[in-house]
Amino acid sequence: REIYFRGLDGVLPALPTDLDALERTAERRLEPRAFAYVAGAAGTESTARANRAAFERRRIIPRMLSGVSEPDTSLELFGERMAAPVLLAPVGVLTIMHPDGELAVARAATGLGTTMVLSTAAAHSMEQVAEASAGGPRWYQLYWPKDRDLAESFLDRARAAGYRALVVTLDNHTLAWRPRDLDQAYLPFLRGVGIANYVTDPVFQKAVGSPIGDHNLREAALAWTEIFGDASLSWKDLPFLRDHWNGPIILKGILHADDARRAADAGMDGVVVSNHGGRQADGAIASLDALPTVAAAVGDRVGVLFDSGVRTGSDVIKALALGARAVLLGRPYVYGLGLAGEAGVRHVIRSLLADLEITMMVCGIPAIGEITSETLTS
Ligand code: FNR
Repeated sequence: REIYFRGLDGVLPALPTDLDALERTAERRLEPRAFAYVAGAAGTESTARANRAAFERRRIIPRMLSGVSEPDTSLELFGERMAAPVLLAPVGVLTIMHPDGELAVARAATGLGTTMVLSTAAAHSMEQVAEASAGGPRWYQLYWPKDRDLAESFLDRARAAGYRALVVTLDNHTLAWRPRDLDQAYLPFLRGVGIANYVTDPVFQKAVGSPIGDHNLREAALAWTEIFGDASLSWKDLPFLRDHWNGPIILKGILHADDARRAADAGMDGVVVSNHGGRQADGAIASLDALPTVAAAVGDRVGVLFDSGVRTGSDVIKALALGARAVLLGRPYVYGLGLAGEAGVRHVIRSLLADLEITMMVCGIPAIGEITSETLTS
């Protein structure tokens, strides 16, 4: 309504409301290597395309005369009330988009009551971001480093800074083959961007030789490459997480039903069905195609979240109909940040939530809990 009424006075939205169009705007306006880093995916980018194609294949069957004048988008997730089933996915190195990076995202999310999942690979420390999101919901995403003391320190710091839920990303222990970045020899981390949580950590500082500053940033970045990921992790290691985190633990990057069952058996609280936006295993199954099998495998034993390819309100409805409790949004809010800072992130969140609400109305869906497999064609 706000957009149409402003249109009467000749005021058009500053940014496209269509999040695919927003990507094209970002491509025109942002620094080319930074844009490529965000937009890019692994290999031939076939999985990134498959993520979108899987949404295209699914169709909603709208219902009439269902008396929905005010759809209820709220839900309860891991014991917390949320206004809508949409969170901001953890995305690292956000200062390549805008100098305020994660701080701007935290402010926008907090202002709108949306949960931001803060990446370990952030360009601002988790304490700084916690301050920027004061009063708002906070989740922390762990990249589980090789050094156990460092992992423990990250979890201690996150708890102390008020992060409630822990998302542990499993699909990125090894940086994938990403031709757009390889061909430009562009990796922000090696330039010291996205290692704020490491350089502010006493355990990491000790390994590099504190204090870390401009004079030894290159050395710190090299130390980071050694410590960042641990491909030797296995299901046997999960008790470490339980021992060091007393809130909900959610494993991100699950695509196989057996892995989801093992997560439930290990006492995890949730999984995120995700292929990292197609950025890790090229040729991997579309995230949406993996969702129904994973959801059926775990039933109500763990909370199933979803990401990779969500761009519209109807995408959110489709993911929920296939078994997700909520979705995480990735690239679009990052483009919003790059194009207009905090206001750009706010624009993206508000557009998606308004789209969701209106699509629920035109589909006759009164509340989030009413979205079931029957909402879609089979
Ligand atoms: C990511 N993603 C990611 N995931 C994570 O757990 N930790 C991280 O630091 C990052 N960093 C990151 C950087 C960039 C530039 C992108 C695009 C993505 C993956 C992210 O959380 C999410 O899984 C995908 O972005 C979801 O797909 P869409 O919405 O981008 O299609």
